[in-house]
Amino acid sequence: MSIDTRDSFTGKFGVIAAAAGSAVGLGNIWRFPYVVGENGGGAFLLVYILFILAIGIPVMMSELIIGRRAQKNVFGAFKALAPKHPYFIIVGIMGVGAAFMILAFYSVVAGWTLEYTYLAVSNNLLTKTSSELSVFFSEFSQSTTGPVIWMVVFMFLTGAIVIGGVQKGIERYTKILMPVLFIIIVILCIKSATLDGAGKGFSFLFKPDFSKVTGKVILEALGQAFFSLSIGMGVIATYGSYIQKKENLFTTAVSVSFADTLIAVLAGVAIFPAVFAFGIDPSSGPGLVFETLPNVFNHMAGGYFFSVAFFLLLVIAALTSSVSLLEVVVAYFAEELGMKRTVATVIATIAITLFGLLAVFSSEMFNFFDKTSSNILLPLGGILISVFVGWVLGKLQVKDELSAHGGKVRMIGLLMIILKIIAPLAIGLVFLNGIGII
Ligand code: PHE
Repeated sequence: MSIDTRDSFTGKFGVIAAAAGSAVGLGNIWRFPYVVGENGGGAFLLVYILFILAIGIPVMMSELIIGRRAQKNVFGAFKALAPKHPYFIIVGIMGVGAAFMILAFYSVVAGWTLEYTYLAVSNNLLTKTSSELSVFFSEFSQSTTGPVIWMVVFMFLTGAIVIGGVQKGIERYTKILMPVLFIIIVILCIKSATLDGAGKGFSFLFKPDFSKVTGKVILEALGQAFFSLSIGMGVIATYGSYIQKKENLFTTAVSVSFADTLIAVLAGVAIFPAVFAFGIDPSSGPGLVFETLPNVFNHMAGGYFFSVAFFLLLVIAALTSSVSLLEVVVAYFAEELGMKRTVATVIATIAITLFGLLAVFSSEMFNFFDKTSSNILLPLGGILISVFVGWVLGKLQVKDELSAHGGKVRMIGLLMIILKIIAPLAIGLVFLNGIGII
């Protein structure tokens, strides 16, 4: 891919698969359950879904509009679309910063997933009891050699795919493998739902207890919505720039958000009944999935096969997301700083890998990267993106882009009100309230 001949996705399914590939990842299967667990369950889930519908989908549409209209990476996009408002490139700067932070801990968790794939293949997972699994996770995640090696392997794979370019690298994998992951999760749900004591898990996930809702819980739900949809930092805008003019951006945003939320909820259904059935603490943090699911594999027919397939596909889901994060940095290096794409990829991959070492060596840094990116950088990016599309681009341009130059656009009035007023105000209030300022 070069500056003058931009790559593009080949068709409707390719676009949705690639954007969904970015959205669906560790955020759905690792982060969503652990954050739900830490924030009290059902009520969090409701607030989360509300944010996806009212803010997530409009912001995702905005990013797609920005990217496709400008045909550039986030930095170039703001400059090209609004030369009179150069300060909006702050979104791009924050986006590159967020990509660094997210990849730093994301690659560590993906590394854990590689370790679990290895354990599953070598049949060292199904032999452990529930308490052995918990001990193993905490010892492993606090060690250094194993996690560092796997993290480096994962970043290497990410860089290798990005070097291949968008179409060949990203689209090919997502199209086939995401549906397979979906089927495996559904099977896990069925198994988990039939465990003894599963009922408690269902009440935890689906029976809202509103006394648990605090300002911090609401901010966590908003942050998780942004993280899971890959919005607020330019990933979706960058992908938008590869989408052909004939594609419908409304349908794309709605389908991707729907698929993403469905997979997160299914991951919750696969995990929480098992959490209660095996007496695990739902608020045990980032290790939740790794401590819980092997127990389910342990109790099911074909456990070996399913455990190998599940962790392997989770690695692949993580790759289709990490690739989108690295792509933001590489597109910036290549298109704004004029580096060759290969050089840009190598430099970005090495720099981020070094940064990621911080998250391996210190759990404080890990948590800092995790929470700062989701709860601060992405929501702030979301405010700027909505303001930009709502006020700077304005209704005429939005309409033109959504209809691919002419034709009818559904719910444009509602979309404009959300982008101009509701989203910036709501995100701002949730943010200030969540960090304790109001
Ligand atoms: N949405 C991805 C996931 O759920 C993570 C991600 C966040 C990717 C932000 C890109 C940008 O795993």
